[in-house]
Amino acid sequence: MLFTRFWFLTAIVTLIKFVVSEDDFIPPNSWENKEFKKTIEVSNSFTTENLELTIINIDSEPVTQYFLPIPTELLPKISMFTAAYMSEESFIQCMLVPGVHTLADGTQVSYGVIQFEAPVAPGEEIALLAKIHLAVTGTPFPEEIGMDDTQSLALEVNRYPISPYLSKTVSVDVAGAEDFIELTPAQSDDEAGILLTGQFKYGPFHNVPPFTSSWAKVSYPVDYPLITVTDLKRDIWISHWGHTAEFQEYYEIKNQGAKLKNGFSRVEFMKRVQRTEGKGGNFIGVLGLAMTENSTDPYVTDKVGKVSSVMREEDKLLLKPRFPVFGGWAYNFTVGWTNTLEDFLHTSNTEQDAFVIALPVLNGPPDTIYRNAEVSVILPEGAEVIDVGSPLPFANATVTREYSYFDLADGHAKLTFYYSNLISELGSGELVVKYKLNANSLYQKALYISYYVFGALMTVFVLINLNLNIK
Ligand SMILES: *[C@@H]1O[C@H](CO)[C@@H](O)[C@H](O)[C@H]1NC(C)=O
Ligand SMILES: *[C@@H]1O[C@H](CO)[C@@H](O)[C@H](O)[C@H]1NC(C)=O
Ligand SMILES: *[C@@H]1O[C@H](CO)[C@@H](O)[C@H](O)[C@H]1NC(C)=O
Repeated sequence: MLFTRFWFLTAIVTLIKFVVSEDDFIPPNSWENKEFKKTIEVSNSFTTENLELTIINIDSEPVTQYFLPIPTELLPKISMFTAAYMSEESFIQCMLVPGVHTLADGTQVSYGVIQFEAPVAPGEEIALLAKIHLAVTGTPFPEEIGMDDTQSLALEVNRYPISPYLSKTVSVDVAGAEDFIELTPAQSDDEAGILLTGQFKYGPFHNVPPFTSSWAKVSYPVDYPLITVTDLKRDIWISHWGHTAEFQEYYEIKNQGAKLKNGFSRVEFMKRVQRTEGKGGNFIGVLGLAMTENSTDPYVTDKVGKVSSVMREEDKLLLKPRFPVFGGWAYNFTVGWTNTLEDFLHTSNTEQDAFVIALPVLNGPPDTIYRNAEVSVILPEGAEVIDVGSPLPFANATVTREYSYFDLADGHAKLTFYYSNLISELGSGELVVKYKLNANSLYQKALYISYYVFGALMTVFVLINLNLNIK
């Protein structure tokens, strides 16, 4: 509940800090897990880990940090890591720490750290929820399938929620698919998973020693495409003169699903679509692209030109690519639309001539992983950036100048945020830009356009004369 209502706030507490750099780092043995329940949600194209924890400080001193080992190779793929108190509906600061410890089975782990605001007294018990969104999904298993087969994915999961502390009771559930098969047999019968309705359960295990680990490969059917945006370039042009916010997005999309074993056959494809009434299948037949609310003038283009197989459904564009995008295939396209500026703009109460604009980080298709996203806000000429804020952690941000056709010499301030491994579920978090625009810069544009047109006519006139001279 808390997470769905306030997830955009949770963004603020995710920080990547390089605090620990020791080669082998083992956290102090300050806690005992009274209960540790981990649920790995696989019903989307990305993975979500929900952790329910009841922990007790067994140290002789107050403690402020709780450590969660996370396989080091997954660390760069984390979109978001958040934690909250179960009782108070309030968030706790979280960090990712790339310090490494190698487990007995060779797995290298780093740590997620939950940092309590106030020290937790010896003997005190706390109930927590933590959530890790990962821009990863299972890999197709088998890698290639026939056009009429149902795709399966295989995911590496640990039968234990790896912890640096002794755990009294633990369990791991993989949830969100109709069926599960354990591809790697367990060492003993009680380590084997149990198939329940819509989930696969490991445990409960009792008195589990620190750093216990046992990897399993689990497969499950996924009858939909795995949409990955390998690159997104999203530009939002802000115009006070035209009262508009213009969106333009360039997508390079790839379906990471199972590839076709015997190639594509249009006849087979039509048969399949008829038989299934267009439902299911690991190909992208129609992409539902979310736009901002109350947008106008939507368009879609691709390499060939304007795409006409587009239908508008409220604030969504249903785009039918020129071909069904099967596993391993890619499709590139550009989509754009316009809003009135007032949909996003707020004037500052405290500062004269200052504006605050709040824009969603992403729109686009649902259930999608974004490997690289470059989101730019292009401010009107003469605008002076005062402050910016991003709800999601970004790789870097730059301010450059962008010149459009009718620009003054200094161009538009262009703010660009580079993100990696985002997931669509977090995309409605808002980028906030505060900037100053004095009354003069509002009118400068109009003056400049008329000046420019005059200048252009003069140039044409001079050129004609020159040409005449050359002849
Ligand atoms: C999409 O763009 C990328 C990068 O320019 C290119 O490598 C790829 O071939 C394009 N895919 C299609 C289907 O046009
Ligand atoms: C969209 O338009 C409707 C009806 O005009 C209005 O009620 C709503 O507030 C608008 N939404 C936004 C985000 O401006
Ligand atoms: C910002 O990060 C992106 C992606 O990691 C990279 O391509 C770009 O060169 C970086 N820009 C700067 C100025 O560091």
